[in-house]
Amino acid sequence: MAYKNAIGIFDSGVGGLSILQHIRQLLPHEDILYVADSAYAPYGCKDETYVEQRSKVMTEYLLEQGARIIVIACNTATASIIEKFRKQYGIPFIGVEPGIKPAVELSKNGNVGIMATTGTISSSRYSELSQRYGSTVKLYHQACPGLADQVEAGLIDTQETIHLLDDYVTRLMQKQVDTIVLGCTHYSFLKPVIRQITGDSITLVDTSRAIAEQLARVLEQETLKNTPGQGTSDRGAVAYFTTGSMASTRTAISRLLGQKVTVNSLL
Ligand code: DGL
Repeated sequence: MAYKNAIGIFDSGVGGLSILQHIRQLLPHEDILYVADSAYAPYGCKDETYVEQRSKVMTEYLLEQGARIIVIACNTATASIIEKFRKQYGIPFIGVEPGIKPAVELSKNGNVGIMATTGTISSSRYSELSQRYGSTVKLYHQACPGLADQVEAGLIDTQETIHLLDDYVTRLMQKQVDTIVLGCTHYSFLKPVIRQITGDSITLVDTSRAIAEQLARVLEQETLKNTPGQGTSDRGAVAYFTTGSMASTRTAISRLLGQKVTVNSLL
């Protein structure tokens, strides 16, 4: 099916679905193209050149398919390429970054933990973000290798996922954090398991909703918002694409969204 004026979303895999869910709620009549770069995931342990090359392939595919605005639903890719791509492609890009600013406002004891990929934590954009918003508190950065892979495989509450989470979350709890930022879109799906470890005394910060709201604002400002009927249907359509196996991406997406979906091959 040909799309015109769709919202394009990409991530290394299924993590960006956490943002897609909010976009669907806020902008129900918009058409959405979602690309999961599953064959090349995870991004979080790769260098910036790799992430840039893959993000370029994702962006150009979405533009060819008819995207008018792109949501980079990946903290790792946002950290390495968003500024460059905004200049290069001349369309609006919405990115996602660890919610350090809201976490600092929410923290009562001034100890804030951030869970993110190694790529995000080692990026210069992330250190600028930490300096800009985190100077009045103590920030504890926790890289979480392996976690995104578990979500990618749809393994949300298996023993291995719980074991990894136990390790990462306990390290932050030992620093007496009262607020933890979920700085990778894949981690949103782990919230219930993280909650089991932390109990209710720790605030979890997830910016997925705020990203969808930011998208709605930018569509309004740039007069890019579709009115009902301008897309393929009143209830906008979502098309899913993957660079990886269609069957396993379909299984992972269907499980995470709780509904059956069709997945197309990007190649
Ligand atoms: N979901 C991505 C993020 O927000 C990346 C996960 C990965 O591919 O390592 O950082």
